[in-house]
Amino acid sequence: MPDTPRVAIVTGAARGIGAATALRLAADGHAVAVVDLDEGACASTVDAITEAGGRALAVGADVSDEESVAVAVEAVATGLGAPTILVNNAGIIRDNLLFKMTTDDWDAVMGVHLRGAFLMSRAAQAHMTKEGFGRIVNLSSSSAQGNRGQANYSAAKAGLQGFTKTLAIELGRYGVTVNAVAPGFIQTDMTAATAERIGMPFEEFLKAAASATPVARVGQPDDIAHTISFLVSEGAGFVSGQVIYVAGGPLD
Ligand code: NAI
Repeated sequence: MPDTPRVAIVTGAARGIGAATALRLAADGHAVAVVDLDEGACASTVDAITEAGGRALAVGADVSDEESVAVAVEAVATGLGAPTILVNNAGIIRDNLLFKMTTDDWDAVMGVHLRGAFLMSRAAQAHMTKEGFGRIVNLSSSSAQGNRGQANYSAAKAGLQGFTKTLAIELGRYGVTVNAVAPGFIQTDMTAATAERIGMPFEEFLKAAASATPVARVGQPDDIAHTISFLVSEGAGFVSGQVIYVAGGPLD
């Protein structure tokens, strides 16, 4: 039997992993709020969903801003219904070696990943606990285990793992599960930007990443969307507080 159609919020869904996740959750039968910094930038994801016969709403919001989050979650509740699925996917990188990393680089990354996931989850849980059902998925990263040039990002992604486990403990009794997906190398604009920063052509960067991966390829946004689809499904109700590495090989 298919899952009950729900209302899902996917942050950072204008492109990349977020866009693929929004499309996948819509294909699973859910109405999807496509949240990103610029409402106009959400149009391609929303159009792809509606053209395929799904329901979607574009919402412009900065997840690191308390007021913006409150307005966005309210707009979703009014426009689509009570959100009971939340994917905290919005993210940025401000890579640099520690001695060159500015305080702004640090704060910006903490603001989007950690503060953003906190603000969005706090706002959405009010609907989930009221409905007696909820699914939260946070995007961590293999970089949580440490990655040169990413002190800020690595700390934020490791922080999200602790955040995930704590929310799972607090919200479980209300029918809400909370898990993290930690991708390895995924081919998106974010990894293209990393290649540019280190001065390597993206094709070469992809080849190097693929050869360092046991399944001998890099990941695609759909690889992550598929795992998220599983975690938000009704059947995954006994899976909570977990970090699932989706990296084409073992990590823990
Ligand atoms: P991306 O850079 O292609 O997309 C990120 C999206 O988040 C963009 O549309 C951007 O506008 C949006 N965003 C940024 N700041 C925001 C804010 N304050 N409020 C709302 N939206 C905001 O990134 P990608 O590669 O799709 O990554 C998605 C998530 O997966 C991120 O959390 C990233 O850290 C994580 N991840 C990505 C990996 C990769 O290899 N691409 C590996 C591990 C984790």
